[in-house]
Parts: sequence; C-alpha cells; structure tokens
Amino acid sequence: MDGIIRARGIQRSFNEIQVLSGLDLDVRQGEFLAIVGRSGVGKSTLLAILGTHDLDHGGTLSIAGIDTKELSSSDLARLRREYLGFVFQDFHLLPELTAMENVILPAVFSGRDLGKARERAGEVLSRLSIRADETPTTLLSRGERQRVAVARGLVNGPSVLLADEPSASLDMESEQTLFNLLDELRREQDFALLAVIHSRAVLDRADRVLELREGALHEVV
Ligand SMILES: Nc1ncnc2c1ncn2[C@@H]1O[C@H](COP(=O)(O)OP(=O)(O)OP(=O)(O)O)[C@@H](O)[C@H]1O
Ligand SMILES: [Mg+2]
Repeated sequence: MDGIIRARGIQRSFNEIQVLSGLDLDVRQGEFLAIVGRSGVGKSTLLAILGTHDLDHGGTLSIAGIDTKELSSSDLARLRREYLGFVFQDFHLLPELTAMENVILPAVFSGRDLGKARERAGEVLSRLSIRADETPTTLLSRGERQRVAVARGLVNGPSVLLADEPSASLDMESEQTLFNLLDELRREQDFALLAVIHSRAVLDRADRVLELREGALHEVV
C-alpha cells in the first residue's frame, strides 16, 4: 500500500477563488507529518478534505487504498470511523459530559462495543493523567482539556490522527507535555499524526514538514 492517505490533484475553490490547486499528498504509516503555511492559505480546508468532511473538491482521495469518491455517505462515515481520528483546535468538548463520556462519544456514534470503548478510553485518559469523571468545565487547564480531545481522537484506534493546531493557545510546557504523550502513544499504537503546526519547537519533532503555498504542498528543508 502507498500509504494510509493518498491525495492526487486536489482542487478546492470558494467563490471562484482557488485555495487548493492540484495538491498531492501521501501520508505514510506511523509518521508525524507537520503542515505549515501562513494564515488563510488553506490548511484547515485541506484537513477538512482529508478528513472527508468536505467532499466538494476536485482530484482523488484514497484512504487505506479505498477511493472515497465511490462511497455512499454511510460507507464514508464507516471509513472515517475505522481509519481517522480528529483533534480540533477549539477542542469541541461537551461541557456537561465527563471526560470519559466525551472520549467515548465517537464510539457511541459508531455503534461499537461500549464496554471495550470505556476500557480503552480509561486507559488513554489515565495515560494522559486525566480523571475520567471530571467535566471539562471543572478540569483545571486548557492543556488538560486538549488532552481529553486527544484521547477522544484516539478512542476508535485510528490509522491517522488529523489535528488542526492541536497546541494552539497552550503554554510551552503544556505543549511539550502534549507532544511527549503523542510521541509515546504513536510508538505504541502506530498511528500517523498529520498536524497543522505553528510552534518551531514542535516542528523539530516532525518526520516531515510540508509548507502549503500557492495551493500545493512543498517540502521544507
Ligand atoms: N466555507 C468557506 N466559504 C468561503 N470561503 C472559505 C470557506 N472556508 C475557507 N474559506 C477561505 O479559504 C481560504 C483558506 O481558509 P483556511 O481556513 O483553510 O485557511 P488556514 O490556512 O487554515 O488559515 P489559519 O492559519 O488562519 O487557520 C481563506 O481565504 C478562507 O476565507
Ligand atoms: Mg486554519
């Protein structure tokens, strides 16, 4: 297999302004791939396409060797649950639910064995030093909330974790803690991490850094 995600000739326009203009990308198993680029260049747009949330694009996208264009929306949802995990910049946690409930939410939606999901969620949360019964509003810090969001992204055991600026608005110490944990979990669970990154300290950890510029990705050396 060529890699877990294979994108060819991806195009996306908004109001006749082309944001992505024939972008190619391969995400290899287990790698940490960082995406950089100035504000408004199309990084979040790219992540939405790779995550199969935005289907209005040109070009082809395969995930685990499956061409996404051929799939019905329910098959697409299944593919997403099977292979992809997401960490959003602003966490998207539900404040009235506990950390455990937030983390198992994707498993609830995917109709998985909830006992197993709870077990797995408990493990990930304890690895991240988060108490399962805390609610996001009572959790102490943004760093902790972000770790709950990471646990949720991992609960279905994805092949790729897609993260849009996962350490935005964290202080440097929380950022390092977050990426130390991600490195450890990635070694154990062998998922690829594809993340939009701003911090130079974090970029040093990446296996590859690609810059999004003029609608395409360019290797940064
Ligand atoms: N739903 C939309 N409708 C119209 N224009 C959009 C939409 N989504 C994105 N755009 C435009 O596409 C361009 C790329 O936006 P995008 O959010 O992908 O940039 P970004 O690189 O993630 O920026 P930032 O670093 O600020 O997060 C911007 O010009 C934006 O205004
Ligand atoms: Mg963005």
